[in-house]
Amino acid sequence: MRLSAVLVCVCLLWAEGSRGDTPANCTYEELLGTWVFQVSRGGHDRTVNCSTQGKHIQAALNTALYFRAQVLDRSMDATGESTVTVNLEKLSVATDELGNTGFFTIIYNQGFEVVINGYKWFAFFKYSEEGSTVTSYCDQTLPGWVHDVLGNNWACFVAKKVKPVPPRVDYKPLFSSRLLQKPYKNNMDFIDSINSVQSSWKAVSYSEHETFTLQELHRRAGGPASRIPLRVRPMPVSAEVAKIAAALPEHFDWRNVDGVNFISPVRNQASCGSCYAFASMGMLEARIRVLTNNSETPVFSPQQVVSCSQYSQGCDGGFPYLIGKYAQDFGIVDESCFPYVAKDTPCGIPKNCVRAYTAEYSYVGGFYGGCSEMAMMLELVKNGPMGVAFEVYADFMNYKEGIYHHTGLSERFNPFELTNHAVLLVGYGRCHKTGQKYWIVKNSWGTSWGEDGYFRIRRGSDECAIESIAVAAKPIPKL
Ligand SMILES: *[C@@H]1O[C@H](CO)[C@@H](O)[C@H](O)[C@H]1NC(C)=O
Ligand SMILES: *[C@@H]1O[C@H](CO)[C@@H](O)[C@H](O)[C@H]1NC(C)=O
Ligand SMILES: *[C@@H]1O[C@H](CO)[C@@H](O)[C@H](O)[C@H]1NC(C)=O
Repeated sequence: MRLSAVLVCVCLLWAEGSRGDTPANCTYEELLGTWVFQVSRGGHDRTVNCSTQGKHIQAALNTALYFRAQVLDRSMDATGESTVTVNLEKLSVATDELGNTGFFTIIYNQGFEVVINGYKWFAFFKYSEEGSTVTSYCDQTLPGWVHDVLGNNWACFVAKKVKPVPPRVDYKPLFSSRLLQKPYKNNMDFIDSINSVQSSWKAVSYSEHETFTLQELHRRAGGPASRIPLRVRPMPVSAEVAKIAAALPEHFDWRNVDGVNFISPVRNQASCGSCYAFASMGMLEARIRVLTNNSETPVFSPQQVVSCSQYSQGCDGGFPYLIGKYAQDFGIVDESCFPYVAKDTPCGIPKNCVRAYTAEYSYVGGFYGGCSEMAMMLELVKNGPMGVAFEVYADFMNYKEGIYHHTGLSERFNPFELTNHAVLLVGYGRCHKTGQKYWIVKNSWGTSWGEDGYFRIRRGSDECAIESIAVAAKPIPKL
């Protein structure tokens, strides 16, 4: 099933002619509480199609679930369906009716993952759309996937919260499609004003931008509707973590660790909203280089993620956390097996392609909301580059060099707004002259953009929410 959900990086919010948009918009507080998971007959492998079974499950859920769940915590009916009751408690503890304890995290505002009693459960929150109106049902999910922690015994499920949450109605801004089909035009006045209000970074015009329509440029950067500050406030770090972090080097860069580079080449996502796929593949590529001391240097296929992952929305966006999960559940092939074409295409991977998997994937800090500058620094130095996301404002598009921070300036004619863009964190440092701390980040807009395809951005102040949603995944290298 393809969802058109709002996702990190992408999403078009426009009305006609495009799908991406901002559907589910649910909060952590709404996720907390007791949920009943209605599970279809199990025993499938990873090819289970939860969109076909979904209808069936949904019907069962609507009629029977409530009273049944209240009578029997765990039941099995004649069709082989069963229910599991799980309680989600602050900050990340899941418990079930059998007394088992596990883990949960919300995934931005989109859905959740629960790991308990040897099973992993993942589903997107339920939503509906009508014109510019989006209704989120934050006490229900669309059909999701459950399998054991070894990737066996797959089934589909839907979840419903015991205590209802009132539906949330959001309105998507609608832009006229005529405006969006216009080619982007560089605006020298805008660039001059960015350069005159600050001296930390420099803006230039990029002729490449004029090859895109506004809509395409918007896809490259994200969509106006998905807003990172929905996160739970970050945890204060423990004294222990602070002590270890204090002993880290003042400057660290995976492109140059004692003269050795562990980062794969910068790529260009073009006008597909696939930043999340590039950030995730870039993380796995770099981490395999780190784990094998550069004896393995794979380049993975972001097109596979765009075309094949049901945990994301193709050129309309996705989340690195769920791509870490996709790589664990399905494995990813090399670029040469399924080359990048920058558009939504059918999933057609040759049978003989070797797949690489992830052993683990997680939010830095343990769960969404647990992120911090120190936790990111520790993760970076210890395990390698990680996926991060931040809000792209119009001024960022014109970044050339220096330490980026948002100037507050926007272009009048340009409907760019708060958007989410996923990228790869590869290092950090501090500016000798000004003392300003920064992150070093790999973008997927080609090597002619920014500092050879990279940018630096203020560190320590959650600039543009860059310290809110870091994701780490551990790839399994070849033997
Ligand atoms: C799942 O089943 C639905 C309905 O039969 C179909 O439209 C869809 O293409 C299937 N998805 C996959 C990934 O096989
Ligand atoms: C999501 O809901 C929050 C309120 O919880 C609201 O502030 C925000 O604007 C909504 N986001 C979208 C994309 O509609
Ligand atoms: C890693 O590779 C470099 C060569 O690029 C080599 O100098 C170094 O000794 C290797 N490290 C280990 C631990 O093998």
